[in-house]
Order: sequence, then structure tokens, then C-alpha cells
Amino acid sequence: MPKRWSVHVVVGLWMLTGFILGTTYRSNLKAMLISPRIVIPFNTIQELVNSKITLFVPDSNSLHQAMMASSPDSPLGKLRPQSVFHQDYIQAIKDLFAGSIAASSPSLVTTNLEHTYFSQTGRCQLYIMSENLLQMPPLGIGFPKGSPLKPKFDIAISGLKEFGILSHILHKWTSNSTECTKPITQKGTPALRSLDLGDFYGIFSLYAGVDEADQLSNL
Ligand SMILES: *[C@@H]1O[C@H](CO)[C@@H](O)[C@H](O)[C@H]1NC(C)=O
Repeated sequence: MPKRWSVHVVVGLWMLTGFILGTTYRSNLKAMLISPRIVIPFNTIQELVNSKITLFVPDSNSLHQAMMASSPDSPLGKLRPQSVFHQDYIQAIKDLFAGSIAASSPSLVTTNLEHTYFSQTGRCQLYIMSENLLQMPPLGIGFPKGSPLKPKFDIAISGLKEFGILSHILHKWTSNSTECTKPITQKGTPALRSLDLGDFYGIFSLYAGVDEADQLSNL
């Protein structure tokens, strides 16, 4: 009789193990099917052209000039017909956050926008296209030719740069923008993964239980 009983226990536990494994797999599959997919309307200049989304370009900045100078069949030239050029930044930012236009800006300005928006609302609202519209020339400070101030500024600025003070200041003033440049992941649910050892602990203990039950039944 005890022998039969232990067979029952083993079969029962085996079924339970199967059930747990099945449930784990089913939940993983469900999570994969249900998890929201974020569809980005464009991520390159060509996709932006195809999307026909209006692009705000600050009037007379370097991008505006480059667009005007580029031939109509170049990527920037193709963007021209759907672009609006003006200097009403407030309106442009409103439209941008309302989702009705895309806007171009130097990356520092974008970083600052993301930082400010996140600091005020705790949310990220912007997506930054991966492809650069324009390789910006480094910013400079203008001096009259032969100015004695220039060498002094050169030394000061390269010092600030080398000691990491410039990047420290930048990080200090725009630290929250990094919240918005993290890769897109789902919060709360861990990423989909294959089963690892930790998932089997429950099952191992089941087997340990079987062993004990066996010994018990043999008493
Ligand atoms: C960053 O965001 C948090 C929460 O939105 C805010 O409390 C904090 O002041 C922000 N940090 C800076 C440096 O503005």
C-alpha cells in the first residue's frame, strides 16, 4: 500500500511540475503578444520625408541655410517642401509637444528641452531621430582679428574642457534629460528571456519533496 501511495505522489507532483512549466511558458508567450509595441513614425531623413510630417526649422540657422543650398533631390532638399521656417519658437515648441509637427534643433537645445519637460512633469515626451540632419560645426566665440583676448580664451576653454568642467556643468544643468534617452523598455515587467536556473528552484524543491515523501511512505 505505501508503495502505491508514493506512486500517486510522484505522478501528482509530476503533473504539478508540468503545469508550472506550461504556465511559465504560456505567461511568457502572452507577455510577448500583449506587450505594447512602440511605433516610431520616422527615424531617418528619408522616413521623415515619406511621413510628410511638417518639420520646423529655425529661420536662418545653419540647417535652414544648408537646406536652401542643397539640390532638390538630396535628402535635405527633399525635406524643404514640408518644412516651415520661422522664429516663433514658443509656438513651435507648443506644436511639437502637441505632436502636430516635428522640430529640428541643435542637440544641446533638444537635451535642454527634454530635461526641462522631465523636471516639470516627470515624463518624457520627445523622441529624437537617430540620424543627424546636419553635422554641426563646433560652436565658437568671435573676436576681432588679432585680438589679444583670443589666446587667453583658448587656454581657459581648453582647460575647462580637459578637466571635464564643461561636461560637468552640462550634466548638472541637463541631468534629467538622460531619463529620456534611455533605450525604450517596459517598466515593471522584466524583459522576455529564456528560463534560467532560478526558475527551476521551485521544481527542484518539488523533487526534494518527492524524495522525502518516498522515505516517509517507506517508514
Ligand atoms: C529632475 O526631475 C525631478 C523629478 O521630475 C525633479 O524633482 C528634479 O528637480 C529635477 N532635477 C533638476 C536638476 O532639475
